Amino acid sequence: MSEPQLWGAVDDYFTSRLSPDDEALEAALRDSEAAGLPAIAVTAPQGKLLQLLAQIQGARTILEIGTLGGYSTIWLARALPEDGRLVSLEYSAKHAEVAVRNIARAGLDRLVDVRVGPALESLPKLADENPAPFDLVFIDADKVNNPHYVEWALKLTRAGSLIVLDNVVRQGRVADADSTSPDVVGTRAAIELIGQHPRLTGTAVQTVGAKGYDGFALARVL
Ligand code: SAH
Ligand code: DHB
Ligand code: MG
Repeated sequence: MSEPQLWGAVDDYFTSRLSPDDEALEAALRDSEAAGLPAIAVTAPQGKLLQLLAQIQGARTILEIGTLGGYSTIWLARALPEDGRLVSLEYSAKHAEVAVRNIARAGLDRLVDVRVGPALESLPKLADENPAPFDLVFIDADKVNNPHYVEWALKLTRAGSLIVLDNVVRQGRVADADSTSPDVVGTRAAIELIGQHPRLTGTAVQTVGAKGYDGFALARVL
């Protein structure tokens, strides 16, 4: 077995024992694929990690940037109390439409508000509504804008909030200081912002699994 195959087999094993037979999540992936969405959602063990982080955080309000078909949204929204709220920002109307159906089938439509448009346009509109501070922000959209998303997350959170960024390793490309790839440049800028910002303390962890070699950055707002 190649290493990536092995990582996938281990993810399958963990999923079968730790979060098996989840009809709403499996249907969300099936319908996303049927609608032609790219297969780039978090894995099941990663989704469960996001859910556990939201629970540990006692999150009542969550902001997600990058909805796709709502797979990570479902994991996160399930951590919320009855009167909780998750706002998820998605550029593509088609992705959002698939996500809204998947979220409704999971019974979470009362908690989740999917907003269509470029996140850098939706974020100022959201801020104008003076929302209660978000307890957790999950950043998983166009990586080139990662530093802007971290800045917006800072405006929309409180001391003690948690910011999570997906895909910060990208097969190790993050370590290439000479990279001109906009995604790598954006993610490096976000990591450096987390490292230098007086109101943030953070770390990043490398992961392997069914989606290859990648990782998350985690930052706590001070
Ligand atoms: N969080 C999802 C995966 C998101 S994939 C999950 O794990 O299940 C990234 C998503 O970000 C895609 O749906 C893409 O359309 C969206 N996206 C890309 N650029 C964006 C932008 N500028 N604003 C908002 N969403 C964007
Ligand atoms: C891509 C985006 C993601 O958010 C992800 O988790 C994996 C891949 C991508 O654009 O290729
Ligand atoms: Mg991602």
